[in-house]
Amino acid sequence: MQSFASGEGEELRPLRVGIAGLGTVGAALIRILTEDGDAIARKLGRRIVVSAVSARSRSRDRGVDISGFKWFDDPVALARSGEIDLYVELIGGEDGPALASVTAALENGCPVVTANKALLARHGVALARAAENAHAQLGFEAAVAGGIPVIKTLREGLGSAAITRVYGIMNGTCNYILTRMGNEGISFEECLKDAQALGYAEADPTFDVEGFDTAHKLAILASLCFETEISADQVFVEGISRITQADIKVAADLGYKIKLLGMARKVETGIEQRVHPTLVRKSSAIAGVDGVLNAVALETNHVQELLLAGPGAGGEATAASVLSDILDIARGTQVPPLGVPSSELAPCARAPMRIHEGGYYIRLNAKDVPGALAAIATRMGEGNISLESVIQRPDLRASEPGVEEETSRTVVLITHETIESAVREALARIASDGFIVGQPQLIRIEEF
Ligand SMILES: NC(=O)c1ccc[n+]([C@@H]2O[C@H](COP(=O)([O-])OP(=O)(O)OC[C@H]3O[C@@H](n4cnc5c(N)ncnc54)[C@H](OP(=O)(O)O)[C@@H]3O)[C@@H](O)[C@H]2O)c1
Repeated sequence: MQSFASGEGEELRPLRVGIAGLGTVGAALIRILTEDGDAIARKLGRRIVVSAVSARSRSRDRGVDISGFKWFDDPVALARSGEIDLYVELIGGEDGPALASVTAALENGCPVVTANKALLARHGVALARAAENAHAQLGFEAAVAGGIPVIKTLREGLGSAAITRVYGIMNGTCNYILTRMGNEGISFEECLKDAQALGYAEADPTFDVEGFDTAHKLAILASLCFETEISADQVFVEGISRITQADIKVAADLGYKIKLLGMARKVETGIEQRVHPTLVRKSSAIAGVDGVLNAVALETNHVQELLLAGPGAGGEATAASVLSDILDIARGTQVPPLGVPSSELAPCARAPMRIHEGGYYIRLNAKDVPGALAAIATRMGEGNISLESVIQRPDLRASEPGVEEETSRTVVLITHETIESAVREALARIASDGFIVGQPQLIRIEEF
């Protein structure tokens, strides 16, 4: 990267930024840079100026004045132009113009800041390598948990502390839905509709509610935590669309809340990366993170546990994280994008879920016939699964399609710590015995 010092006692020349993508985050970034320009210059000792922008539509009203910025139809041309000192990618998408323009900027030795988790999750290692080869910085604070400075904390804030486990709530849409289901007793479908009306969920919510968005963010965090290659394909993923009011109510009566967590830790067989609905004790700090808020907990050997909580999305909060990367680059901070040089990253070996050990919540619709409960308990015993409690809830009507309320009753089993494969095998035997109807619900329990 160029040096900007023009001589002792003289002000550094402005850092010229090119921004591609002028949507929710891009427009918010321009607003903040305009409103806080003087404050930024005071802190930094130099100005940040937007010199060029790119988006699809030149005429669209974005609520910010872009008339003074040079316009590029093509973000790749903007990224390659010699007229900027830093390229900001806020287009989105794992390939296409986002990948092409970020690659072009780095090949040109131009530092890059992006908020694009999909891009990082898919191409993060290659982009880190390109950045290192070009001696250009690559910032992506906003890509994980929007406004929460977790990437900087991992890259720079923990000294030599080794991370033993990372977990968190990294999708505001899911947290909003689960929080409302818990507080108001309404269904997943109703909450999703409201989330869409309020702009918290996309028209096609699959990516969020089925856990893939959290998996992308978790894979990026796991790489930084454990010095492994980013491997989103290796994440075990289950979403929240099968969570019912019955689950929420029973969990609450037992002292738990249900949260969609992303969790990663190093185990003997490799790196366990998993995203799934989880029963967490109401008294735990993570259970208190409600609504659209996000939180990331880092368990380390020296610092013990650190919990960072805050807004995980939203134009302003996300743009603030983008700006924090811009300021770091303007200051000349040099740090390998993934915490260590990309050549030092180990391949990410997937620790299989079938050997995962933990407690389980199992909700079944048992047929209302003699011997059904005894048969279920026997199958659990055969699998060496020790049951902490067996709860019959005649008040909770079976809610799955095709399950007749009158001929079945809701039974919830809570297991002590056991192996996932044993639980799955026992449930398969219980199903083939013919004493249950519908699909059993299985939710993992995590103690923090
Ligand atoms: N929104 C959030 O709360 C949030 C939080 C964290 C991270 N992020 C990440 O931030 C990035 C941007 O998100 P966003 O919500 O701001 O997206 P957005 O509102 O959909 O904006 C996307 C922008 O990209 C532009 N664009 C699309 N294709 C383009 C192309 N081929 N060439 C040039 N410009 C193109 C669009 O132009 P037009 O406006 O002309 O259509 C639009 O301005 C994404 O990677 C997202 O994952 C967002």
